[in-house]
Amino acid sequence: MCGIVAYIGHRDACPIVLKGLKRLEYRGYDSAGVALLDSSKEMKVYKKTGKVADLENEIGSRDTSAFTGMGHTRWATHGAPNDVNAHPHLSGDGEFAIIHNGIIENYGALKEMLKKRGHEFKSETDTEVLIHLIEEVYKNNPVTFEEAVRMSLTQVVGAYAIVILSKKDPNYLIGAKKGSPMVIGIGENEHFIASDATPIVEYTRNVVYLNDGEIAIIEGSELTIKTVDNTIKPPYITAIEFNLENIEKGGYEHFMLKEIYEQPRSIMDSFRGRIHLPDARITMAGIDKYEDKIKNIQRIVIIGCGTSWHAGLVGEYLFEDLARIPVEVEYASEFRYRNPVIGENDFVIAISQSGETADTLAAIELAKSKGATIFGVCNVVGSSIPRTTDAGAYTHAGPEIGVASTKAFTAQVTALILMALSMAQKKGTISTQRLREILNEMETVPEKIERVLKTDDQIKELAATYKDAKNFLYLGRGYGFPVALEGALKLKEISYIHAEGYPAAEMKHGPIALIDEEMPVVIIATQHSNYEKVVSNIQEVKARKGKIIVIATEGDTHIQEMADHVIYIPACEEVMLPLIATIPLQLLSYHIAVLRECNVDQPRNLAKSVTVE
Ligand code: AGP
Repeated sequence: MCGIVAYIGHRDACPIVLKGLKRLEYRGYDSAGVALLDSSKEMKVYKKTGKVADLENEIGSRDTSAFTGMGHTRWATHGAPNDVNAHPHLSGDGEFAIIHNGIIENYGALKEMLKKRGHEFKSETDTEVLIHLIEEVYKNNPVTFEEAVRMSLTQVVGAYAIVILSKKDPNYLIGAKKGSPMVIGIGENEHFIASDATPIVEYTRNVVYLNDGEIAIIEGSELTIKTVDNTIKPPYITAIEFNLENIEKGGYEHFMLKEIYEQPRSIMDSFRGRIHLPDARITMAGIDKYEDKIKNIQRIVIIGCGTSWHAGLVGEYLFEDLARIPVEVEYASEFRYRNPVIGENDFVIAISQSGETADTLAAIELAKSKGATIFGVCNVVGSSIPRTTDAGAYTHAGPEIGVASTKAFTAQVTALILMALSMAQKKGTISTQRLREILNEMETVPEKIERVLKTDDQIKELAATYKDAKNFLYLGRGYGFPVALEGALKLKEISYIHAEGYPAAEMKHGPIALIDEEMPVVIIATQHSNYEKVVSNIQEVKARKGKIIVIATEGDTHIQEMADHVIYIPACEEVMLPLIATIPLQLLSYHIAVLRECNVDQPRNLAKSVTVE
């Protein structure tokens, strides 16, 4: 939540910052702002409610030339989304400016203290309190700008990725991180700071991922990294793993559509190199490292939020089914505030696209403190979760920009299938023959998804029929149940239609009361273990005159007699069902949202990376 970007170097900062903000807009789009500092020590601050495009209009043709600048795109936490609460925020004397992603938890106490010392605040934000604190420390101590920032941060409780400019030192840019992401880009006599590498990749591939408790001091073209307690750290430079084309729309109308269509490739990238068909072997370094532990594993606990939690639910079925290991799937936000029974014999799998979700990070810390082994399944390389866990597997979906997760989900499921198979092999709960069959099937999934994508026109027509529905019900059993949940989440988050996912058999314990001739019911009824049972559930919906949309297996003509609409998907092994059956549901929600003229890539009130609890 909230995106930050900053530049110091020999180019004009403003266009770089604005372009960077557009790339980070998926992180929040309630307001945007920039602060620009030139060598004459003049600080220009422009901010505006709404999107980066609104900020650009606000700036218009004003003079923005400066070699140092920073910008912010906001997802509101403290204070309404308006011009005053928009970042950057200034100190009382106007000498310092700050942008911030995170939450200063003790801002109330700090604000009271500062008010007693005569500080007046313009906004309702926690961020403004921090920049006043820096001003106060600077004023009352014989310290430099950098020292004032460092000393102030020792008084702060909470999470932050901040960048600060000072009119006193226009040649300086200071960034600091704790709990929110920050990447430093290192170019030729120029530096970039951003929430992720997307604003940077266009200019340089060399980056440093700042660790919690570190401060980046850029003076001219020199970068120094220190800890809050003033220990110098040598920068660990790595290369950005994606290309510019991965973060552009590439001819698609929306990122979400592009990302749906990328799934044959992203799934392949997620299993390629990990499957060895000739000797029916799976290589996953993180899992192989824990071979002994896995053989005696008592329990797996999977934690995640939203779509990642849905992938976790698929994981529960996989690990129990294939590796015969008991699994619990927990919402990270609940897990962290319970008193969970967890210990050294537990293997915790944390699933996250962004690798930055605050609740998941906190749940990891809790499980770690109890001695559990933590395994991360993440998409963003270098993000916080992979750096906190004991081991892990990247999902290789590539950057996912659309707020609604699509290709990240199927990449997570791919990684979980491989993990479950690898554990099953280590534990001896699967025969080589069966393992080979499933691995062979995995290799066919990209092509099967290509076939599902060809139903796009049919799904578009279906979307036109149901775009004005007030409610949707999604039903599934077994591996179809997490698919139903994910289909419902996709629809509600981008089209704002109320949708519920349910285990098909649970319908008769309540939701069946909702069904009438107005209610579209999407049912995953493929020819797998629960087929006959789901067919009975379809009959129950039909008897209440619900509109039946079925995801069925190619060749199943029988189902047409019961359904109002059938979307066919290729026959597949049951464990692969979530990879294939999810695709038509993603397309359905996408087309409904487009027809309702919703902002598909940036749905209201949401942000891609939820770095607040
Ligand atoms: C998915 O479409 C959502 N936007 C959301 O539920 C997301 O999956 C959730 O916030 C978890 O994010 P993460 O995977 O980055 O941890």
